Amino acid sequence: MRTLLASVGIAALALSGAASAGEDAVLSVDGEVFVTEAAAPDHLENVDTIYSGWVFRTDETQELQLDDFDNPSFIFLDQALDTWETVDGSEGKSCASCHDDVEDFAGLKSTLPRVENGELVTLTNLVNECRTERMGAEAWKYSGADMSAMTALIAHQSRGMAMSVAIDGDAAPFFEKGKELYYTRVGQLDMACANCHEDNYGNMIRADHLSQGQTNGFPLYRLKNAKINTTHGRFKGCMSNIRATPFKEGSPEFKALELYVASRGNGLSVETPAVRN
Ligand code: HEC
Ligand code: HEC
Repeated sequence: MRTLLASVGIAALALSGAASAGEDAVLSVDGEVFVTEAAAPDHLENVDTIYSGWVFRTDETQELQLDDFDNPSFIFLDQALDTWETVDGSEGKSCASCHDDVEDFAGLKSTLPRVENGELVTLTNLVNECRTERMGAEAWKYSGADMSAMTALIAHQSRGMAMSVAIDGDAAPFFEKGKELYYTRVGQLDMACANCHEDNYGNMIRADHLSQGQTNGFPLYRLKNAKINTTHGRFKGCMSNIRATPFKEGSPEFKALELYVASRGNGLSVETPAVRN
């Protein structure tokens, strides 16, 4: 889709050293270049190349992610850093009481969800386990403000790392379940995730440019609601849009779908916190 004009435009931008955006643009933050296009992982049958959702956004939206000072997510990450230090629960502890540094969580987002003792575990589950089992505090709401910000802060520590979610061994049954959900038509519009994000990415749907529905940028900031949005929140929105009754956030269905969708992005860079419309 690269036109002569676009190539000239990119060359001019590269010369001026300005941040560039557009479909052929490069996502780089502070000189670190992200993989937004990669060969599809072997298990994908109908797609050769995978793309980050960033590629499909407008120039204006893309640009917000090129500079952390412009990226509205960081206000929420700062709030999560405060929460990190805040004592809560009957044990009188904060996250910082036990975890030296949030940076120690580098490499976590890129490998989640994962299976532990036969159960599929998301980042949200891990955080709530610490709250309920180790702090004597109440679980945070699955996509509530505290949880969204904290999981974004933790996932951010993996920024730039390649998504590499395991799908074999213990994970295989969850992968199969997620795959089935991805291809099952639901709702009044009788559509599957695949009908939009596999068959039609790159096309316009109303005013929106359809992406492959990747999750490498999550949790992420959406201009639409001016807050951090979670993967399950997004799944819910997509299901509502096709007039289906969404599964619950944190449900076995959405966790399996999260594993499957994350695995479709194996090889893309973690972008958290991304910016989308
Ligand atoms: C009483 C000590 C304690 C407190 C307080 C605590 N944690 Fe933990 N946390 C642990 C232990 C122990 C583990 C399991 C071993 C490990 O991975 O470090 C763990 C694991 C985790 C993991 C998974 C790490 C991995 O690599 O699998 C995350 C994420 C996490 N904690 C986040 C938090 C957050 C966020 C808070 C505050 C809301 C918190 N923890 C509070 C002790 C604690
Ligand atoms: C009717 C078409 C349609 C269907 C069906 C659909 N979505 Fe979406 N989805 C969209 C649109 C439009 C967007 C916003 C633009 C974009 O990123 O594609 C979106 C965005 C997303 C995103 C965010 C991508 C990003 O980079 O920010 C994810 C993840 C996603 N969808 C997952 C799913 C899953 C999982 C399903 C099945 C449960 C699904 N979608 C079903 C239309 C659809």
